[in-house]
Amino acid sequence: MEKIMSVRQLCDEITSITFSSRYMAAEAKPGQFIAVKCGNNSMDAMLRRPVSICRADRWSNEITVVFQVKGKGTKLLAETAETGSYIDYIGPLVNSFKSPPAGAKIAVVGGGLGIFPLLFLLEEIRSTRKDIKADAYLGFRKNDSVILREEFTKAADNIYISTDDGSCGRKGFVTDICLPVIDAGSYDIIYTCGPQAMMKCVSKAAEKSGSECYVSLEQRMGCGIGACLACACRIAVRPAEGSSQAADGGGWEYKHVCRDGPVFRSRDVVWDKTEES
Ligand SMILES: Cc1cc2nc3c(=O)[nH]c(=O)nc-3n(C[C@H](O)[C@H](O)[C@H](O)COP(=O)(O)OP(=O)(O)OC[C@H]3O[C@@H](n4cnc5c(N)ncnc54)[C@H](O)[C@@H]3O)c2cc1C
Ligand code: FES
Repeated sequence: MEKIMSVRQLCDEITSITFSSRYMAAEAKPGQFIAVKCGNNSMDAMLRRPVSICRADRWSNEITVVFQVKGKGTKLLAETAETGSYIDYIGPLVNSFKSPPAGAKIAVVGGGLGIFPLLFLLEEIRSTRKDIKADAYLGFRKNDSVILREEFTKAADNIYISTDDGSCGRKGFVTDICLPVIDAGSYDIIYTCGPQAMMKCVSKAAEKSGSECYVSLEQRMGCGIGACLACACRIAVRPAEGSSQAADGGGWEYKHVCRDGPVFRSRDVVWDKTEES
């Protein structure tokens, strides 16, 4: 449990909570999430809800998570979180985005709620790696839902925004803007998080252009400890290095986002067999 320093309403139904934790500020890595207890009465929302770490200030020890009210758990969290109260969570969990190699040109592609872990990644790179060039492609529904624009502008070299209705940035999907650039082989590594259809398009384009690509799968969760299968996804089994077996001939196995993720190498994700949450 940590003390909440501030609670902000970023836009309709999207809340940002900043809390203080020296441990998290030292340990959290971009891509990781926390499992938050929602509400004071455990019967209201028994299972903890996963929320990505959006910002980690290593100097002030402040951690920020941002979430949208979707159902019972997040509604309770939004209603009960207030400055001076406490947030009950477990984390940081589990794996994280791979760090880019020296001199890499990278892109982050985020849609809606998927932008949060990508901001942490960009801010971390901006503060520790002067050798990396980073572009951010962000998709929102409409102008009113465009959030954290200033933060992304500071953290990336270039930022490109799309909205479904064209009320901010380019009209259409974020993939309309980023796919031609990815197709041209402009990036060494691409990191993506958001709707599954978007991540699938980005992954296919990255694979075709020979870029490395990592996805953060924000599957719906249940138990959060690998016991219930709610967050299962199918991940290709690669033959061991040096094996004579064809590269994609190894079939697949179930992995759990809560235990093995949330970040996976995109070419390992068996998209057609991974449930849309
Ligand atoms: C690793 C990870 C990181 C996440 N990070 C964030 C984040 O930073 N910010 C954020 O707002 N949300 C994030 N989510 C999604 C968030 O956990 C869910 O929205 C939340 O658990 C819903 O709980 P609830 O009780 O409010 O809704 P419920 O009552 O459980 O469900 C209400 C509705 O939301 C839908 N829903 C539930 N879980 C998801 C999900 N994972 N994706 C899409 N729809 C869902 C349900 O299908 C249902 O229609 C993340 C999920 C994962 C797995
Ligand atoms: S949430 Fe139950 S297995 Fe992952």
